[in-house]
Amino acid sequence: MTVEDENSYDYVFKLVVVGDSGVGKTNLLGRYVHDTFDFGSKSTIGLDLTIKHMMIKGKKIRVQIWDTAGQERYRSITKRYYRGSVGACLVYDITKRESYDNISRWLNEFKMNEAHPDSVIMLIGNKSDLQDKRTVTQEEAMNYAKEHGLLFMETSALESTNVELAFDSVVNNVFDKLSGKIATMDDKRAEIMRGQAIDLNPPLNTDSKHPNQCAC
Ligand code: GTP
Ligand code: MG
Repeated sequence: MTVEDENSYDYVFKLVVVGDSGVGKTNLLGRYVHDTFDFGSKSTIGLDLTIKHMMIKGKKIRVQIWDTAGQERYRSITKRYYRGSVGACLVYDITKRESYDNISRWLNEFKMNEAHPDSVIMLIGNKSDLQDKRTVTQEEAMNYAKEHGLLFMETSALESTNVELAFDSVVNNVFDKLSGKIATMDDKRAEIMRGQAIDLNPPLNTDSKHPNQCAC
């Protein structure tokens, strides 16, 4: 997509990446967006915003991905950014049992903070390259995902396994699940929905040229 094209798009999807500190959220995004990995990455302070542009079925999608800090002290700030999200990646580390046990907490927090009711949520077990240190089986995570209506994938940001597939699946599922709703709504209702979507978004990164932010 050219720079010119970046200023026109059909939909903006807001996604958040959450999970305990150290599970690899920032590196997953680094791999997905820039194809990079950092062995000595520092803990995220607050949040970082990454933008990715995609084309799906002839529509231009601007994907805003919020990389949140897993540290407890940022929790009250980060949860404010769940508002209006249409997708979430809940990340745990397959070698850290506690990070998996905390997934229900992250899931509840996401659902309680005004994310879109039809959000697409993906459970991600990261660091699949560390098989010999695994403490969470694939089967139990898969069962948890099924039980809670989540997508599930194991990834390795280090080895670049399933990273693109995981994020692309979330965006594609959001598109299939939510963009169809706009097409079937009458104009007035669509207008109201758009207004709500703008209200629901945090003040950062607003672009007045594109009123249909999160238009789903
Ligand atoms: P916070 O920002 O504190 O919430 O942490 P985070 O979830 O963003 O973790 P981050 O991406 O900073 O990664 C933490 C550590 O795990 C770093 O040392 C990374 O190099 C390492 N790491 C991340 N992904 C992988 C992976 O797939 N495999 C392995 N072996 N290490 C990884
Ligand atoms: Mg981070």
